[in-house]
Amino acid sequence: MAKSTYNYDISRSFVNWSILWGVVAVLVGILIAFQLVLPSWNLPPFLTYGRLRPLHTNAALFGWGLGSFFATFFYITQRLTRQRLWSDGLARFQLYLFNATIIAAAVTLLLGYNTSKEYHELEWPLDILVVVLWVVFAANIIMTVIKRKEEQMYVSIWFMLASLIGVAVLYLVNAAEVPVSLFKSYSAYAGANDANVQWWYGHNAVAMVLTAPPLAIFYYFLPKTTGAPLYSHRLSIVAFWSLIFMYLWTGAHHLMWTPVPDWVQTVAMAFSIMLIAPSWGSVINGYLTMGGQWHQMRSNYLVKFLILGITFYGLQTLQGPSQAVRTFSAFIHYTEWIPGHVHMGAMGWVSLVLFAAIYYMVPHMYGRKLYSEGLANLHFWMVLLGQLGYSVSMWIAGVQQATMWHAINPDGSLHYSFMETLAAMVPYWWVRAFAGVLYLAGVLVFVYNLVQTVKKGEAVAEPA
Ligand code: HEM
Ligand code: HEM
Repeated sequence: MAKSTYNYDISRSFVNWSILWGVVAVLVGILIAFQLVLPSWNLPPFLTYGRLRPLHTNAALFGWGLGSFFATFFYITQRLTRQRLWSDGLARFQLYLFNATIIAAAVTLLLGYNTSKEYHELEWPLDILVVVLWVVFAANIIMTVIKRKEEQMYVSIWFMLASLIGVAVLYLVNAAEVPVSLFKSYSAYAGANDANVQWWYGHNAVAMVLTAPPLAIFYYFLPKTTGAPLYSHRLSIVAFWSLIFMYLWTGAHHLMWTPVPDWVQTVAMAFSIMLIAPSWGSVINGYLTMGGQWHQMRSNYLVKFLILGITFYGLQTLQGPSQAVRTFSAFIHYTEWIPGHVHMGAMGWVSLVLFAAIYYMVPHMYGRKLYSEGLANLHFWMVLLGQLGYSVSMWIAGVQQATMWHAINPDGSLHYSFMETLAAMVPYWWVRAFAGVLYLAGVLVFVYNLVQTVKKGEAVAEPA
């Protein structure tokens, strides 16, 4: 299929912008990590930890995460359907709206406008922008799939469609609110119901943003980079449907030991454990696809990113279910363990797969050879070590914090004051901050390599 048949322009633009937001997210992540150990780095009122933290999560999940999903979804959909994008104009409009929304989100969050619902912090006028953005995106992808020239729908398309529909439903239900002024609204739900809806949304944001899209990408790029076909299409589809069915019941595992009814918590716990099976269905499919290709772990830098990525997904989906068990939840909930879990998924699984996808797409879209595989390998090791430094330090910190909180004197009083438990975290927070700097340095190597590829990369014809 000739190159001009597809619209790569839009994927290129989304790649550029998502990387920019990714660098901002990581910079702000490092800043808040340092603020915890150097409180004087808080500059009230705008640059305090409380305002910068949601800026970090929004820039990371929506700027970097969604931005690069847009780029890859446009690329993958056209290739898998053998059909040019349904509307170039809508896609361009989506790019402008995406950037406008991210900028508006950054400004309003720094000004202190926040709904106080985690991962749904933006106030109602921005909710409307997000809904328009999503509808435009979904319409473009769905119409392209409908008009496809390739009859078979590869598993990546299923995961993309699930994400498109899932995010729409979750976002709209959780966004039900009563505006009282331009930048203030109150949730339509009250008390425990509000919490339940919020975490039904929150956890399924993990499913529909941090799981389904990277899986779509992984399933597409692993066979592409290794040259070996997917081990089992049947297994991929069974894993898809069971994953989608099971995720929707697990939200209340964020609300163990709260006033949410016990049976709701028990259902969430049971479904979280059942989720191991469909999650590992994809992990095993990935490993078996590597069949006779394991030597490529040495020779092919893309395979390294993808296989380490799916391995972190596998670990994440064993750790997550164990955190959903009531007794373990009582131990690690509210501790540093949780950011350790989050960042193994975010910096490990999601970001590693995205790095691989971008490394694959940029040379193909510009018709140039990657500038330096050596730099790509360096990037790999820097982000891997940065991520491990982050997660491992937080897991150890979390266990120490939990045991300190639980330590009791013979008379039943607490052994440690809260301040003592907090001070004990400081060394771990230093490790996390420097691990973050290493991760950022790796990301900058990635950016340099891409810029040089576009500017100086040897010209090659795009493979059919
Ligand atoms: C089988 C799959 C998974 C299960 C059952 C699971 C379970 C959990 C549980 C129980 C918590 C709450 C911990 C607490 O606060 O006590 C949690 C938090 C979290 N998980 Fe997972 N997890 C899974 C996979 C993932 C994946 C793949 C990611 C991707 C990055 C992820 C991202 C997160 C995030 C962002 C939070 C923090 C939510 C917050 O702000 O409190 N999880 N997970
Ligand atoms: C150098 C890299 C990074 C650093 C230093 C960093 C740092 C931090 C810090 C300090 C927090 C607050 C933890 C707390 O309140 O206890 C945080 C939260 C969070 N970060 Fe990052 N981060 C980095 C990269 C990323 C990336 C790449 C993503 C997503 C793709 C991400 C997603 C999140 C999320 C979802 C949370 C909320 C976690 C929760 O509520 O438990 N971070 N990060």
